[in-house]
Amino acid sequence: MLFNMFPVLVLILSASVADSTSSALATPSHGVDIETSHNQFHEGLTNQLIINCTFTHEHGSNFSTILSLILSKTASANASTYREVASITAFSNDKVDAKDTMGAQVTGHHRVDAYSFIALEWTHPTHQVEGKYRCQANGMDNGGHPLSVWADTVVEEIPIGFDMVLDKLKEMDTKIQELDTKGKELDSKIDAVEAKDKELDSKINAVDVKENKTDAKIKAIEAREQEMNSKLNDLRTRVENSKDAIISTTTSYRGHNYLLSKPILVNVHEANRLCRLYGGYLAEINDKQEFQHLADFSNSSVSGSVSTGVMLGATDEGHEGRWTFLTSGGNMTSCVWDDPQPNGGAIENCLYLSTGTKKMFDDACLKYSSSWSVRFLCEVNAYILKISENAPGK
Ligand SMILES: *[C@@H]1O[C@H](CO)[C@@H](O)[C@H](O)[C@H]1NC(C)=O
Ligand SMILES: *[C@@H]1O[C@H](CO)[C@@H](O)[C@H](O)[C@H]1NC(C)=O
Ligand SMILES: *[C@@H]1O[C@H](CO)[C@@H](O)[C@H](O)[C@H]1NC(C)=O
Ligand SMILES: *[C@@H]1O[C@H](CO)[C@@H](O)[C@H](O)[C@H]1NC(C)=O
Ligand SMILES: *[C@@H]1O[C@H](CO)[C@@H](O)[C@H](O)[C@H]1NC(C)=O
Ligand SMILES: *[C@@H]1O[C@H](CO)[C@@H](O)[C@H](O)[C@H]1NC(C)=O
Repeated sequence: MLFNMFPVLVLILSASVADSTSSALATPSHGVDIETSHNQFHEGLTNQLIINCTFTHEHGSNFSTILSLILSKTASANASTYREVASITAFSNDKVDAKDTMGAQVTGHHRVDAYSFIALEWTHPTHQVEGKYRCQANGMDNGGHPLSVWADTVVEEIPIGFDMVLDKLKEMDTKIQELDTKGKELDSKIDAVEAKDKELDSKINAVDVKENKTDAKIKAIEAREQEMNSKLNDLRTRVENSKDAIISTTTSYRGHNYLLSKPILVNVHEANRLCRLYGGYLAEINDKQEFQHLADFSNSSVSGSVSTGVMLGATDEGHEGRWTFLTSGGNMTSCVWDDPQPNGGAIENCLYLSTGTKKMFDDACLKYSSSWSVRFLCEVNAYILKISENAPGK
């Protein structure tokens, strides 16, 4: 403990010694002056000590010229014999002649018309530095007589006393208390940072919860999508099954698909609606080749030799003699009428294909009689058919 505390004690002591000792000026004497940063120091504790010996050539001075500046000292504060430490002269070319400066750093210059100085600067001065210092300026007066002036100062080494250590310990105690306060401030700052950290954590947690919620929503949407898909598949199956019940066979021609129904009662508009269920409409004949293909297909799809009527998607209802498509509404321009068709006038407004003659004829759109069964032919959008083909259970 003692070993640990010692360097701290030394630092604080040395700092406060330097602060508490005021620098002293020697009494100016005809322009000569000696100045020291401390008149007292503690060996091993005082960091820095400066002694500055100066001469200022004042106006009206008795000096006509200054020839040298000499710094000397005694061996101790109560001794009286001076020994030269350093000098600078008019002939030394601004170089201080250092005799024994006891480890000081030496600076200085010589100026006839301004100030001259010799400065000694110690870091960690030793007891050797103690003594009386004399700064002496030598020159000539106006009459050519030698002239000397000087100034003295004392630098004493003070041993470290018990009281002083106690004082410093008190100071140290105060400093420790200050540090303690600072530490507590720091602690509360750390607490604040930790609180912020926790806040951040809980925010991150909240984001996690949100993310989980979003995940749950996505899962719900996925479940819903699956449900919809299975419903759609169910629907497809049902459509497919109904197709099996209603449609007997299919063909394709120039990228279009055609579904030929099983025998059914006459009801053209109902047949058209059934075609819609499969994504199509009652076949609309756009040219004679298409009609030829469908006529051959229908003929070959019907077993036996009994000719059957096949409902197609055209009508002249409301515009007798002008045949228009049931679904797309345009004029039917390619007609392959059987002879003497069309002959039903306003009573027979729907278009049929005859499997026997492979020609067209007109007949009623709706018959309640079950004595005559016909078929119908759907023209179907390929895309819808494709979906239907993907349906499960096919
Ligand atoms: C000594 O005093 C002179 C003149 O005031 C000054 O220029 C010089 O910097 C001083 N030297 C030191 C080390 O204080
Ligand atoms: C200059 O010299 C005269 C005669 O020696 C003396 O009386 C006087 O005090 C001196 N003045 C200064 C400023 O040294
Ligand atoms: C100078 O003072 C020291 C104590 O500070 C003492 O030991 C020494 O004898 C004194 N010397 C003279 C010459 O008085
Ligand atoms: C988020 O979900 C994961 C996995 O289901 C779970 O481990 C975690 O604890 C949840 N987070 C929160 C904050 O609910
Ligand atoms: C359909 O035919 C009628 C009679 O020939 C004609 O007036 C009408 O412009 C045609 N419509 C279209 C869309 O070609
Ligand atoms: C198919 O056409 C042939 C001759 O072209 C005909 O004899 C037969 O009756 C037709 N079949 C049906 C079901 O119409």
